[in-house]
Amino acid sequence: MKYLFVLGRNIELSKAEVFSYFEKAKNPVLESEIDKNGLLIEVANPLENNSVDFFGGVISIGKVLVSGNLNEVLNGIPKGDLYSGTGNKLNYTLWDFSKNYGEILKTLKEKFRNEKLKATLKHLTGNVKMQGGKNFEIPSSKLIDEEYFVFGEEKIYFGKISQRCDYSSLEKRDMKKPVRRESLAISPRVAKILINLSGIKSDEVLLDPFCGVGAILQEALIQKIKVIGIDKDKNAISGARQNLDWFKFDKKDYELINEDSSKAKILEANAIATEPDLGETLKKIPQKKDAQKTLEKFENLIVKIINNFKNKISGRIVFTSPYIRVGKKRVKCDIEKILEKTGLNLIYEIPEFRENQIVGRMIYVLDK
Ligand SMILES: C[S@@+](CC[C@H](N)C(=O)[O-])C[C@H]1O[C@@H](n2cnc3c(N)ncnc32)[C@H](O)[C@@H]1O
Repeated sequence: MKYLFVLGRNIELSKAEVFSYFEKAKNPVLESEIDKNGLLIEVANPLENNSVDFFGGVISIGKVLVSGNLNEVLNGIPKGDLYSGTGNKLNYTLWDFSKNYGEILKTLKEKFRNEKLKATLKHLTGNVKMQGGKNFEIPSSKLIDEEYFVFGEEKIYFGKISQRCDYSSLEKRDMKKPVRRESLAISPRVAKILINLSGIKSDEVLLDPFCGVGAILQEALIQKIKVIGIDKDKNAISGARQNLDWFKFDKKDYELINEDSSKAKILEANAIATEPDLGETLKKIPQKKDAQKTLEKFENLIVKIINNFKNKISGRIVFTSPYIRVGKKRVKCDIEKILEKTGLNLIYEIPEFRENQIVGRMIYVLDK
């Protein structure tokens, strides 16, 4: 089963998320190839039709319809499978991950003509600014009926996008929930990524020891993962309760605790995914010594929390940490010190930030 994943703005993070997801889904990635923000993967079992909803860093997913050398692909582009609508008008686009784009486009146009379809090519004119500065194009028109893709040089893959991220429902659950805390909130996108990186599966228990008003909890519950949320702020716990109530989640699937996570007790959980306090929201680039102070404070806090819970957690511990702009560079916390004081191992670290953000995130994935 071969698929194309069109990745979001942080390619390294999205890729890690996709691999982690398939690892936990026991649907191993057998082969993969990446070009710009296109990730072509072969997995052992077919994907569900709503798979894209489980990812925070994936724009769309397409199915490979034909692969081979250029001739095989040109001759093999299927007829009926190309357009699933009715009528004879079609607006389409072709994602370009190959130098064979021109040949494939010519053949597509011929096919549409032969099938008496009035097909109009819509260019990818929207823009995503990727982390690292590059711009990638995405469809800007909502009037596109079908998106096709061509990927690869020696071996070429042609296919059709079959699942798209539903941004409107993501935005709705972010903006419409009863309690929002603009400055402290984590987006549903990043929340889903942390959940996937933690390797947690449905019916297992996820702990968020800095749950705030519950963005990570809500995204986990949507995926049928049970959750425990802890926050030392009474108002945050009350906000989380209102939000989870609003989502109508089954009350037996979550537990909210208003306590300091360096002391709170839990029975057990399978993984942690959390966004602790990342320090003050800064409007000006700080002095190095002030950034160091924030980082040290963070290190001391996270060490206490990990040491409090580590014996109750069977799987991974995933947390964000401040990644602070100092001059032209960014500084991060001393992960070696955290590992030494907790006895955990680093699986990987991935930065997540926007150019104009002074405090970005460094995401750490640890295990025992
Ligand atoms: C960045 S916010 C978490 C945001 C959350 N992911 C959300 O979307 O609402 C960090 C939270 O950690 C809480 N917190 C800070 N120190 C804590 C501690 N020692 N124990 C428990 N909660 C703590 C704060 O009250 C705050 O609500």
